[in-house]
Amino acid sequence: MLIKKAADIPSSEITPKGLYLNRRKFVAGTALASAAAVAAGVGLHEMASPSSVAQANTKIDNIQKSPFSTSETITPYKDVTNYNNYYEFSSDKYEPAGLAKNFKTRPWTVTIDGQIKKKQVLDVDTIIKMATPEERVYRHRCVEGWSIVVPWVGFSLSELIKRADPLPKAKFVEFSTLMDLRQMPGQRSRVLEWPYVEGLRMDEAMHPLALLCFGMYGEVLPNQDGAPLRMVIPWKYGFKSIKAIVRVHFTDSQPSNTWNISAPSEYGFYSNVNPHVDHPRWSQATERRLGEFRKRPTLMFNGYDQVASLYSGMDLKKNF
Ligand code: MTE
Repeated sequence: MLIKKAADIPSSEITPKGLYLNRRKFVAGTALASAAAVAAGVGLHEMASPSSVAQANTKIDNIQKSPFSTSETITPYKDVTNYNNYYEFSSDKYEPAGLAKNFKTRPWTVTIDGQIKKKQVLDVDTIIKMATPEERVYRHRCVEGWSIVVPWVGFSLSELIKRADPLPKAKFVEFSTLMDLRQMPGQRSRVLEWPYVEGLRMDEAMHPLALLCFGMYGEVLPNQDGAPLRMVIPWKYGFKSIKAIVRVHFTDSQPSNTWNISAPSEYGFYSNVNPHVDHPRWSQATERRLGEFRKRPTLMFNGYDQVASLYSGMDLKKNF
C-alpha cells in the first residue's frame, strides 16, 4: 500500500511470490531484526526473554464453532503467517514474520475510554476471557488484490462494547496500535503516520461479524498477524483490521484512519469491499487468493451481504 506510481509497483507486491517460507528473505528479516535491536540499544536477550514473548502456537481451549464461518478452503497457515502487511515492522510483506518474532505481547494493557460510562485500563488477558472464544472462518480481502480464508479465533467486538457501556454520544470507535520504536523498526520510518489508527461507525462496530481476535488456526495469534489483540472486519478491506491494539476510544465524531491520512483519494473511511469502485490505480473487480493462480471475482461486501442494511441510502461510490 506504499504510495507509489503504478509503474513503480513490482508485481511481487501484488502477486505472492511463493507458497512456502522464503528462507533467504526470512534470514534477511532476522538479520534486520538484530540490526534494529542493536541500533535501538536493545539487547536481543531483552527482546526475547521467554516469559515475555507471545505464546504463538499455544492451543486455545474451549473454542466454539461459529455459524458465520465459510466452508471455503482454508489458506495454508504458512502463507498467512509469512505474507503480512504490518508496516510497524516492514513494508516488505515477507519480513514481519522474522522481525516480529520477539515482539513482547505480555504484559499488555488496553485503554478503553472516551464517551462511555466504564472507562478502564484492562489487561489483555481479562479481555480475552470476557466471552467464549469462537472460531470464525472468514474471507479476508486486502485492498491490494489478494485474499485469504482464515479460521480466526475471538468473539464479537460488541461483547467488549456492551461492557464499556457507551453513552448516547458515542457514534464512532477509534482503535490505536502500540507505539514502540524499540520494538517496531518500521515506526522509525515516516512511511505512515504513527501510531496506526482505525475507526468504525458504532453500528458497524456492534455488528456481530466484527471480530475482536486473539487467535487463529486454534492457537494464539502469531505476532506478525497482530498479537495479542486485533480486529477482523471481514466485509472491509484488510487495512481496517488493525493489529496490536492498545486503545479503544469512543467518540462523537468520525475518527481519522491511517491509510486515509496517508492517501485520502485512495483510501476512505468506510473501505467496504466493493468490486464496482476501483482504486484510482487498479481495478477491484477481481482478487487472487493466496495459494491459487487463477483470479476470482470480488464480491460486494466480500460476500457478507448481511451488512448491506448498514449502508442503505448511502452512496458507496462517494463513501468509499
Ligand atoms: N495494523 C497495523 N497496526 N499495521 C499495519 O500495517 N496492515 C493492515 C492490517 N492491519 C496493518 C494493520 C493491512 S493493509 C492488512 S491487509 C492486514 O492488516 C493484514 O493482516 P494479516 O497480515 O494478518 O494478513
